[in-house]
Amino acid sequence: MKILFIGDCVGSIGREMITEYLPKLKQKYKPTVTIINGENSASGRGITEKIYKNFLLQGANAVTLGNHGFDNRDIFSFIDEAKYLVRPANYPFGAPGVGIVYVKVNETLVAVINLQGRTFMGQDLKDPFETIDQLVSEAKKKTNVIFVDFHAETTSEKQAMGWHLDGRVSAIVGTHTHVQTSDNRILPEGTAYLSDAGMTGPYDAVLGMNKEAVLRRFKTQLPTRFEVPKEGRGILSGCLITLDEKSGRSSKIERILINDDHPFYE
Ligand SMILES: [Fe+2]
Ligand SMILES: [Fe+2]
Repeated sequence: MKILFIGDCVGSIGREMITEYLPKLKQKYKPTVTIINGENSASGRGITEKIYKNFLLQGANAVTLGNHGFDNRDIFSFIDEAKYLVRPANYPFGAPGVGIVYVKVNETLVAVINLQGRTFMGQDLKDPFETIDQLVSEAKKKTNVIFVDFHAETTSEKQAMGWHLDGRVSAIVGTHTHVQTSDNRILPEGTAYLSDAGMTGPYDAVLGMNKEAVLRRFKTQLPTRFEVPKEGRGILSGCLITLDEKSGRSSKIERILINDDHPFYE
């Protein structure tokens, strides 16, 4: 089976890239399961019910989040009913939502986990290494196919988590930095690994934000409001994992990158 993962969707350009290319990616790769990180899908901050439902309508089986997941207050009105929305599992007890969901496709159950790193993330979350151990033992009672979106800043914390999970999950893919890394590999015990899938949104921008505003902040150090450009060229980033649905072991992880410098071929 194959899992298609699309990295951090940012604003309307990100959503339009998904609308345009998800059908083409599905046609080309025939993924069994599609997962989208939607933490920046509403104007760069959080997600709304309409956007979440639209992702599902377009063929996503689950939507993961991250440190910006709760930035749009619309989420509090629907997160309890959103069966396929996953927020970082290591939020403190009391935060709404869940950190693991199960997706059933054909006869295969896929556990989708969202987890957040702690280094340079500015939030005081629970230990992700301890949290994931509990979640993996819970998921293993039901399925061997386990996908982890590890939302973290540093490549060191991501690589460490990769080794921590090797042989215990099907894939661990990083999100949050919005820049795709080229270290996709199958770890020795069969876990697919990629430090960061990259983002899906404005291409002529800084991590998806208006480049003029970011430049002003760097050059003046004055408070600047970052906005997501609504017009301009787009980028879509993600990866495709091939795995055995019985054992949960992965055999291949490919990067997906679509922009004017890396055109999509049918
Ligand atoms: Fe993000
Ligand atoms: Fe993030």
